[in-house]
Amino acid sequence: MSVIELRGVSRRYEVGGGVVIALEDVDLEVEIGKFIVVLGPSGSGKTTLLNMIGALDTPTDGEITIAEQRVAIARALATGNRVLLADEPTAKLDFHTGIQILELLQDQTHAGITVLIVTHNRELSRCADRVIELSSGRVMTDGPPAGGQVTIAALHW
Ligand SMILES: Nc1ncnc2c1ncn2[C@@H]1O[C@H](COP(=O)(O)OP(=O)(O)O)[C@@H](O)[C@H]1O
Ligand SMILES: [Mg+2]
Repeated sequence: MSVIELRGVSRRYEVGGGVVIALEDVDLEVEIGKFIVVLGPSGSGKTTLLNMIGALDTPTDGEITIAEQRVAIARALATGNRVLLADEPTAKLDFHTGIQILELLQDQTHAGITVLIVTHNRELSRCADRVIELSSGRVMTDGPPAGGQVTIAALHW
């Protein structure tokens, strides 16, 4: 069962007479209790995507559905504590602390919480159930880690 669905979600920013497309036509279904990594280089739209899911920002096109009830402003309330969003949670940490944070986050999935981590660190994506890779605001790949899922203990960066 999915907790969140995005259909044709785009987010454009008007900047100094021009337009920046931060997210373009994104379709996603986010399932309960999954450990999901959103991977992509800086500027690929990761934070924008997370902000949409967390209702900190709204799409310019498309729609977001929560647990089959359409929600705009009340999204954070509707998801309750079933979704945990973390934007670059390990970026400023030393390796060992980063690993501890990852373990703490992954543990939450055992309680049925969906954890969505945004990162530019590909190594980190190896321990995910599902990797959603962004490039220039678009989903390029979406599925299990390319080399197969490994335990957090097997990660090195
Ligand atoms: N508030 C904003 N105003 C204008 N452009 C923005 C804004 N937020 C993000 N962008 C642009 O949207 C693109 C995606 O940004 P972002 O989602 O922050 O990427 P990431 O988190 O992957 O680094 C970038 O080109 C960024 O400059
Ligand atoms: Mg970001």
